[in-house]
Amino acid sequence: MSAPDRGKLLRAPLFHTPRNPFLQDHALESHWDGGLLIRDGRIAASGDFETIRTANPTATITDLRGGFLLPGLVDTHIHFPQLRVLGGLGRTLLDWLEECALPEEARMADESYARQIAQRFVHALASHGTTTALVFGAHFAAATAALFEEGAKSGLRIVSGIVLSDRQLRPELHQTPESAYRDSNDLIRCFHARGRLLYAVTPRFALSTSEAMLEVCQTLIREHPGLRFQTHLNENTREIAEVARLFPWAPDYLAVYERFGLGGRGAVMAHNVHPTPSEIERLAASGTAVAHCPCSNAALGSGLFSLKRHVKAGVRIALGTDVGGGTGFGMLKEALQAYLLQRIAPDGALLDAGQMLYLATRAGAEALDLDHEIGDFQPGKAADIVYIKSPADAPLSAVLERAENPEQALAAIFTLAGAESIREVRVEGAIVHK
Ligand code: GUN
Ligand code: ZN
Repeated sequence: MSAPDRGKLLRAPLFHTPRNPFLQDHALESHWDGGLLIRDGRIAASGDFETIRTANPTATITDLRGGFLLPGLVDTHIHFPQLRVLGGLGRTLLDWLEECALPEEARMADESYARQIAQRFVHALASHGTTTALVFGAHFAAATAALFEEGAKSGLRIVSGIVLSDRQLRPELHQTPESAYRDSNDLIRCFHARGRLLYAVTPRFALSTSEAMLEVCQTLIREHPGLRFQTHLNENTREIAEVARLFPWAPDYLAVYERFGLGGRGAVMAHNVHPTPSEIERLAASGTAVAHCPCSNAALGSGLFSLKRHVKAGVRIALGTDVGGGTGFGMLKEALQAYLLQRIAPDGALLDAGQMLYLATRAGAEALDLDHEIGDFQPGKAADIVYIKSPADAPLSAVLERAENPEQALAAIFTLAGAESIREVRVEGAIVHK
């Protein structure tokens, strides 16, 4: 029998949002002299260091003062085959897909190439503090399997699926509905609910999927309880016009997915930059989450996201980096970009640091229907933790020395911390990046 785990007590300022700061005041919890007790991979206690130490005198103490503890970051929209197309600026969505993204996605037909990219991809997630990601796989089963396998090796929580399309892209990327069903089933059997992996049914977008393909998605979800779902919605005006032409019976873009039962809790639709009032209401009613991708929305000129309309209607919102349409893997940067674009949007919200933290952590957990397990430091949750400490000579250090309260420090972290400040990343208490 192994000895009982007496616990490891991390000592550092800590922040988390156990409640939704868009709905409740004082949702940001911060402890300047914070303690986080980890036992058997779970948060056993979080709060004031001295209180936790007194109650747990045998715990091993690790002094991490000088840095900050945040819950693991959750990226709800990212494409693994697009690592190498980051930086393809100067285009809008449909041209960018044709000229930048799809040629690289076609290279994923080569399994060994796909595996190399998958290895780099999971490393990039971990090194940026992302512990959970909802990932668009490849259009090829072997490449998607490589992502799951590398994800499992990394220790990260990866939710992904083969990307389904049968029209409008390029022939190498198209499957038939029959092969899509077969490949999806095989991948679900191998990877869904294996360790920290989950499977997400992933039609690329309505523009590239026939009704028969969307029916396959519906069948898969009916046949396998607990699957997640992801796709794109209302990103770009040309895309929306094309979807209207292809599905003349649909009153709007969302109605295409709804017709096939695609949506609800555990479903994440990326972008939604140009929704109708009715679509916003229906997203709220069904519990479908929207992955807000502000870096991508700016880089591809897709438009300004109306956070206020979504929040007011009660739509779940989380953040996505949208690599490679976005500008990198950093979820802290993504939250900052959300803040910046809201500052200049005509109906912009003024985000505070607690709301930014929520969007980058707990909101993602809620979107993925994983908030019972991750997203904050409440006792019982998995110990998914990011330790942030600025290099001594970086501007962030100088700013933090002056911070007068936790909110100021957190705002400085969002403004200035990049991957160089992500010092240690844990999933279920185990280090996945240092
Ligand atoms: N819509 C369909 N495919 C994509 C993609 O790869 N990136 C983005 N941003 N939008 C899409
Ligand atoms: Zn995307």
